[in-house]
Amino acid sequence: MSNGKIFLVGLGPGSESHMSIRAREAIAQSDTIIGYSTYIKLVKDLIDGKEVIRKGMTEELDRCYEALERAQQGKIVALVSSGDTGIYGMAGPTYEVLLQAGWKPGNGIEVEVVPGSSAINSCAALVGAPLTHDFCSISLSDLLTPWPVIARRLEAAARADFVVALYNPKSGRRTQQIVEAQRIMLLHRRADTPVALVKSAYRPRQNIQFTTLEHMADHDIGMLTTVLIGNSNTFLREGLMVTPRGYANKYETMRGEVLSGEQAGRSLSMGLLGWKSYVRGYLRDNPEVTLNEVARHFDAPVGEILAAIAEANSDDDAGIYQAIAAAPSQQDKALELARQWGKLRGVARSSNDAVVEMLFSGADLERKGERLNVINDHFHLHIPWHKVHQAWFTGRDNMLHGVYFLDEQRTPVFSLLLRTLDRPFDREALAQHIELIECPPVLAVAEAANDE
Ligand SMILES: C[S@@+](CC[C@H](N)C(=O)[O-])C[C@H]1O[C@@H](n2cnc3c(N)ncnc32)[C@H](O)[C@@H]1O
Repeated sequence: MSNGKIFLVGLGPGSESHMSIRAREAIAQSDTIIGYSTYIKLVKDLIDGKEVIRKGMTEELDRCYEALERAQQGKIVALVSSGDTGIYGMAGPTYEVLLQAGWKPGNGIEVEVVPGSSAINSCAALVGAPLTHDFCSISLSDLLTPWPVIARRLEAAARADFVVALYNPKSGRRTQQIVEAQRIMLLHRRADTPVALVKSAYRPRQNIQFTTLEHMADHDIGMLTTVLIGNSNTFLREGLMVTPRGYANKYETMRGEVLSGEQAGRSLSMGLLGWKSYVRGYLRDNPEVTLNEVARHFDAPVGEILAAIAEANSDDDAGIYQAIAAAPSQQDKALELARQWGKLRGVARSSNDAVVEMLFSGADLERKGERLNVINDHFHLHIPWHKVHQAWFTGRDNMLHGVYFLDEQRTPVFSLLLRTLDRPFDREALAQHIELIECPPVLAVAEAANDE
């Protein structure tokens, strides 16, 4: 390949003052400018005397091939995108076309990506500070992405309490995606969650509307709108949408004292090193609560709650609970052990938290291929044994309570609980039959002070 160059240029939101100096230089140095006609209009003052190739919305790949052809002829080409070229822009498809054509970095055509302010940054700047905590962007365009993929991402983002920016929310033909996105977000977010609808940011027709998740789809949303949906802490005040950084978790007020139990410059008491102690305190205060209820309370997998219990010591116990983990790959041995416990209660849950409890004897458990079965006149129980990754023994009031079989996500596949708690919870006794592990070592306490 010859020595042409392709600039992949992000133009920013659309006003001259928000375009980077490097973007201007790239356009000035180029022989050919290629882009969607709307974006070419954004740089009309910079393209006098240059070859200009205007392409329509659906001709993205054509733009890449045109750029490649010109660069192969030794020309300098600027392929322009609005916002940032690497965010739903031309950078990805161009690299895909180049790599498919056998191009490699350093052999022939030079490629430079020139970053720009993406719609998410520009729209956020216009409405306040909605992105000051974790956020993500999701495009509602199903032109190239199957809807189930988009729906799964919406659900995950909503559940994980990200601030969410929706790109490509609506077009003339795609009108229902935003309604469906709203429905999915409402499964996990309050109806009054603040939402900002920013249209044509930093362009002549700029328009900003504030609304709530419950009402967002009733508003005017179009091709040039970015939808910003707050997280559970985002608030709207004095016409500003703000997502707190989290100072309230540590300080009484923004200039106030550090809250009791917290330290300036250190992780929160509910940080990585501290939160399991908090779980143990919760278990001490709520002795009647089940492990599944605790897991739901902390929105954590049951395996994390068991690890918190296993790390207990005499100053910081877990109330009536005890736990010990079997070493990896010891689940077959753990099952063998449980088969000898006599009368058992087998507990399995559906993904919707329907609970099935069955009474049988340990000897009734039968392995068949990837399944663990209990088959009798009253029920057929089939457990996907291949999903079991780890076994945890649990105790209550120092009596053996049962064994939890967890999957890779540390969620129970099923558990076998003794119907009568008549054996001591004895580490030494268990260790005679099965290899156990110490609970995960507590991380080194020497934590670097926060550098922010
Ligand atoms: C194909 S994506 C291009 C994104 C672009 N590369 C970026 O980084 O901003 C088009 C979507 O970006 C958003 N968008 C682009 N420019 C915008 C602007 N000036 N104001 C609001 N949203 C904008 C809209 O959601 C639009 O549907």
